[in-house]
Amino acid sequence: MTTKMKAMVFTKYGAPDGLQLVDVDKPTPKAGEVLVKVVATAVNQADHHVLSGSLRFSTGLFKPKQTILGSDVAGIVEAIGLNVTQFQVGDAVFGDLSGQGRGGFAEYVAVPEAVLVSKPANLAFPQAAAVPMTAVTALQGLRDRGNLQPGEQVLINGASGGVGSFGVQIAKVLGAEVTAVASSRKLKMVQAIGADHVIDYKKEDFSQTDQPYDLIFDTVGNRSVAEYERALGKNGRFVTTTFLPALLWRRRRNGKKMVNMMAQPSQKDLAYLAELLSSGQINSVIDRCYPLAELPEALRYLAEGHAQGKVIITVAANDSPVLANH
Ligand SMILES: NC(=O)c1ccc[n+]([C@@H]2O[C@H](COP(=O)([O-])OP(=O)(O)OC[C@H]3O[C@@H](n4cnc5c(N)ncnc54)[C@H](OP(=O)(O)O)[C@@H]3O)[C@@H](O)[C@H]2O)c1
Repeated sequence: MTTKMKAMVFTKYGAPDGLQLVDVDKPTPKAGEVLVKVVATAVNQADHHVLSGSLRFSTGLFKPKQTILGSDVAGIVEAIGLNVTQFQVGDAVFGDLSGQGRGGFAEYVAVPEAVLVSKPANLAFPQAAAVPMTAVTALQGLRDRGNLQPGEQVLINGASGGVGSFGVQIAKVLGAEVTAVASSRKLKMVQAIGADHVIDYKKEDFSQTDQPYDLIFDTVGNRSVAEYERALGKNGRFVTTTFLPALLWRRRRNGKKMVNMMAQPSQKDLAYLAELLSSGQINSVIDRCYPLAELPEALRYLAEGHAQGKVIITVAANDSPVLANH
């Protein structure tokens, strides 16, 4: 007899209300796969893109090929398939499933071991679930696409969100001087996680200041390319996690490199971030936690675009997160 598990499932594209908590078959790990009992998972803006059908050319033209969303998971290895070498039953792990069909909004998920890393013991499961997609994006954006060097001036636009809150901390680890752009009530938080300077976007327009930045790491996309370029110094770089069509056909402007970026899930990068988390050099900022059944509410909250750090879904009782507001 097939064993069942609970999962939040969507069968047609639309709003978060279409997600339903139902019983589905519990997966069995194939060769090279690990069955993870999900303790916590996180919502990402990417879940909205898939749910709404805006990525239907890759996720299924008329209806979704994968019916369980959820990319970031933290949990415990429940079973292993043949040839698994990196993990054993009982190991605490976390990872990004976005390149593997997702499936994190469920009690269990079977994933290739190559997308997982060991969870540092000092990190609660919700804190670990906050990391994979957004922290890897921030790391690849700052270090790889932005080539951020020690002593450089970096401005992070959208510093209080999921990507931005990791961006501030990773930029400090890389030795940069960080200016964080956020709204008034988030300024204290971005200072607490390491920002050297803050700009309240409700009071000041960073694109009109005279500070020439070596790198602008943007997670908002609310300015024109010309305005971003104006705030860059000579040989400055601009990297956005959003999508600015003008950058498709012209990436160099007055000697400045300006790019849209697309992060790639990376076990190596996640392992590096796990070291930083383990040594306390970075930490997750968590705004709120919702139970799995309240996933639509969590997605609606994220869609408002003003989360402080990450929004977490707790799937199994295990341990408690440290919330940003407490
Ligand atoms: N390309 C990739 O590989 C990749 C990967 C991950 C994410 N993304 C994209 O990156 C973007 C950010 O993702 P996220 O997960 O960080 O989103 P998020 O958690 O929703 O954060 C968005 C942040 O933007 C801030 N914000 C809103 N208006 C602003 C303004 N005018 N100026 C400065 N900050 C402002 C908000 O802070 P306040 O409350 O202070 O306004 C909020 O904290 C999304 O578009 C997402 O789809 C792309």
